[in-house]
Amino acid sequence: MLTRLRQDHHNIGMLLGVLEDKAYKLKRNQKVNFSLISDIIEYMQQYTDRCHHPVEDTLYGHYCQQFGNQEDLERLTVEHERLAQANEMLSHSITMVLSDLMVPMPQLIEEIERYVTLQQAHLQYEEQHIFPQIEQKFVESDWRKVETELTPLFIQDPLFSEEGAAEFRALKQYINDETYAEVAP
Ligand SMILES: [Fe+2]
Ligand SMILES: [Fe+2]
Repeated sequence: MLTRLRQDHHNIGMLLGVLEDKAYKLKRNQKVNFSLISDIIEYMQQYTDRCHHPVEDTLYGHYCQQFGNQEDLERLTVEHERLAQANEMLSHSITMVLSDLMVPMPQLIEEIERYVTLQQAHLQYEEQHIFPQIEQKFVESDWRKVETELTPLFIQDPLFSEEGAAEFRALKQYINDETYAEVAP
């Protein structure tokens, strides 16, 4: 269970790296493929907001029921809500750019950078504070209990799974082909 969540984090971290690179290019007035940014946000909404975060909420909820730590549970839930809002806001801005509506570039760059920082801080918080707590206290029987409930919550990853969804084909090609990523806008 934690292995899959950590794998998700690794994948998300890579996508955040792509966004960082796009912000860097925009700052230097270089061409950027906004459809890729849009795909990343779409993935974050389709997979992270709808599967990864709910699994974490449920898993940590179980932990707290048994071992109590209401403070962290509240923070986790609030952060997940904030991240979903950040996805919505950035998705809106990128849709405007793709529709040729005027979006001030410095503002957009700042929004992407703030988004990346927020997402990275969240990953770090979970890796350093949430996962270790569960790992320390959960025994075999705890895992068996939560796994029955959590396994159905996992949907197929539309980007990183073997097949992947057709709509993410371009993004998949981009992240799988480093040489392409280097020269592509
Ligand atoms: Fe999370
Ligand atoms: Fe997470």
